[in-house]
Amino acid sequence: MERITVVGAGHVGASVAQRIAERELAREVLLVDIIDGLAQGKGLDQWESAPVEGFDTRVRGMATYEETAGSGLYVVTAGLARKPGMSRSDLVTKNEVIVQGIARQIAEHSPDSIILMVTNPLDAMAYVAMRETGFPRERVIGMAGILDTARFRSFIALELDVSVEDVQALVLGGHGDSMVPLVSSVFVGGIPLDQLLGRDRVDAIVERTRKGGGEIVALLKEGSAYYAPSAAVVQMCESIVRDKKRVLPCSVWLTGEYGLTDVFLGVPCKLGRTGVEEVYEVVLTDDERAALGNSAVEVRETMAALVGGTAA
Ligand code: LAC
Repeated sequence: MERITVVGAGHVGASVAQRIAERELAREVLLVDIIDGLAQGKGLDQWESAPVEGFDTRVRGMATYEETAGSGLYVVTAGLARKPGMSRSDLVTKNEVIVQGIARQIAEHSPDSIILMVTNPLDAMAYVAMRETGFPRERVIGMAGILDTARFRSFIALELDVSVEDVQALVLGGHGDSMVPLVSSVFVGGIPLDQLLGRDRVDAIVERTRKGGGEIVALLKEGSAYYAPSAAVVQMCESIVRDKKRVLPCSVWLTGEYGLTDVFLGVPCKLGRTGVEEVYEVVLTDDERAALGNSAVEVRETMAALVGGTAA
């Protein structure tokens, strides 16, 4: 890919730019931030690491969007982050205005691009980007499921003292405390989790996963997580840029899948060059289906607070 733009040069955005550059996923990575000098400084600093790390992806920072024209991908990370005690949805109206402005710039300068949303409250902000750009659902995708699933996998690996590589799992639903870690789909080297771990331990891990973002916010006290979130969205970038067609949990606009419409929710998707190339419907137990329905209600409640309105 010729050009990827990362919007927001905070911890998440800067980490995303660096990971993209180190993997050479594009010829050029542009980092945009309205705080004058922040993106320019971090972009230049990252570029100066290129001779040491050995990447040829040019990294540059800027405060406006003109030079981002023709980007194939925009990773949107700009917005306010949670403080301890805040829920992701407390951010909704402030970040709506920010994402709205960004989406308009993207639509103007790169009407054929794909948007990967990272700003919280994630599912509602993905909706705002779709509403403002008018892009089809294939090209507006929220990052949450990979992060939530990574947390789930990392905790299971710690508990069993096994390689993270052998822990397969899937977390569905909105990026909030109502997310739905699918215990029935966890396998460790092909072995179902319930054959390795008692129900109490599994329940504790599920609970820790649901609160995983908050655990980091409480520890950091300023800002929220960025190493795992940036790793997660770069996995999405890689699948799109290299047309790998990976099957990854992403927040996507549902049009009837799982019996749900007009809501962004995390479900398994195939990601390739054109964005979301397929949305998969997992067969769920009654409890899992009910939990997913609850999660959709939670996302809709957040969307209802949007000043710019919803289509639903
Ligand atoms: C988290 C924030 C980024 O889950 O939503 O860490």
